[in-house]
Amino acid sequence: MNFFSRSRWTSRIRNILILLATGGLFSMGTLLLAQTHATPSVDSNKPAEQAFKNIQVLKGAPADEIIPAMQFISNALGVECQFCHVQNAFEKDDKKPKQIARKMIEMQMAINRDNFKGEREVTCFSCHRGSENPVAIPIIADEETKPAANQPEPLTAGLPSADDVINKYVEAVGGVAAIEKISSRLEKGAINFNGHDFPVEVLAKAPNKRISIVHMPNGDNITAFDGTAGWLGSPGGRPSRPMNAQETEAAGFDAAFHLPLEIKKMFSQLRVRPADKVAGHDAVQIVATNEGKPPVRLFFDKDSGLLLRSTRYTETPLGRNPTEVNYSDYQAEQGVKIPLQWTVARPLGRFTIQIKSVEQNVPIEDSKFQKPASPPTPEGKPATK
Ligand code: HEC
Ligand code: HEC
Repeated sequence: MNFFSRSRWTSRIRNILILLATGGLFSMGTLLLAQTHATPSVDSNKPAEQAFKNIQVLKGAPADEIIPAMQFISNALGVECQFCHVQNAFEKDDKKPKQIARKMIEMQMAINRDNFKGEREVTCFSCHRGSENPVAIPIIADEETKPAANQPEPLTAGLPSADDVINKYVEAVGGVAAIEKISSRLEKGAINFNGHDFPVEVLAKAPNKRISIVHMPNGDNITAFDGTAGWLGSPGGRPSRPMNAQETEAAGFDAAFHLPLEIKKMFSQLRVRPADKVAGHDAVQIVATNEGKPPVRLFFDKDSGLLLRSTRYTETPLGRNPTEVNYSDYQAEQGVKIPLQWTVARPLGRFTIQIKSVEQNVPIEDSKFQKPASPPTPEGKPATK
């Protein structure tokens, strides 16, 4: 097997990073993406034009939202970074698509300013829909389409209340008493990207500490939430770094140890909505929101009551990047059902974690979740290539 031959490995890592980038647990990637692409170590307090070399249209955007915005563009057009960028020289304007993209960013801003009161209604995806070339002519469907009903039923007709859905979830998992009896969990298994497995360990402790450690060939890749703040560790001897506000929020959600009991407290509004089938199961959706933040969508199995999927969004200057987590293989461990498999999916790819062993109520030191002290890095200097 030449899988570990250097160049193949490097390109594979790049693909993995592209698909992992931005947001939350098992998302390991933002930092790595930035580092592997040799972008500057991003200081979130700085505007983009100070942290990067050649920002012309995204001036004033927070520096740590540039990579997520790039991710958004790539998702919207269904392309990789190299479509617009010269390798290891992101500031260069050599490629035509980059020049066009800059005009397109200005166009998007103008459309929204002139027609939608500055609300970001139109994005790259509105026109591009995952393709470099938007389609301007209506498509003829393969089959005859049924005309839409003139009087749509109210959205929530026949659906249970949000309260009922959450209560059913609590019961499905094992009930309040059983859930509260478990206060720590140590899981071991494998994470699979592109058909390759790496060992993974997930340590979690009530109320909200969590760390996942992926053992990669060149070192550990870590996503952690210490109870208040999130941090990321990447292989290759690079220093750990704190998560930004959006990453922290997503990691905090993943870290909620007694999630079924926490949902009502975590969000100020829960609305019930219909849903398409999720992994073959009839589902009901809860749209969970907090003021001024993108929603989190939670999909529950209509029959079993268990959580099948969560979808959340990270805000970027150009649009929102979605992350979907699908939970499956629920098994009862000491009276509490937990998913032993979950798949994290983004527009450009997905990876799956399969847990093989679970230990609960084992003592786990708080220090396990804390970011190791790292040597200070020189301010504003580019990360090493
Ligand atoms: C469709 C074209 C396009 C794609 C795809 C794209 N970018 Fe960009 N990128 C741009 C444009 C345009 C700018 C300049 C924005 C400006 O002038 O404000 C830019 C700027 C950047 C910068 C700032 C460079 C500097 O120092 O000025 C970085 C870093 C970057 N992109 C990284 C990425 C990464 C990583 C990816 C893949 C996830 C990516 N880009 C995908 C068009 C693209
Ligand atoms: C209002 C619709 C619309 C929006 C919004 C839009 N585009 Fe486009 N874009 C187009 C059309 C149409 C073309 C093709 C033009 C042509 O064929 O000459 C295009 C072409 C492009 C190309 C050139 C593709 C190639 O194959 O060379 C790039 C790059 C691009 N858009 C990037 C973006 C980015 C990035 C955004 C979001 C910031 C965006 N576009 C938003 C309509 C749009």
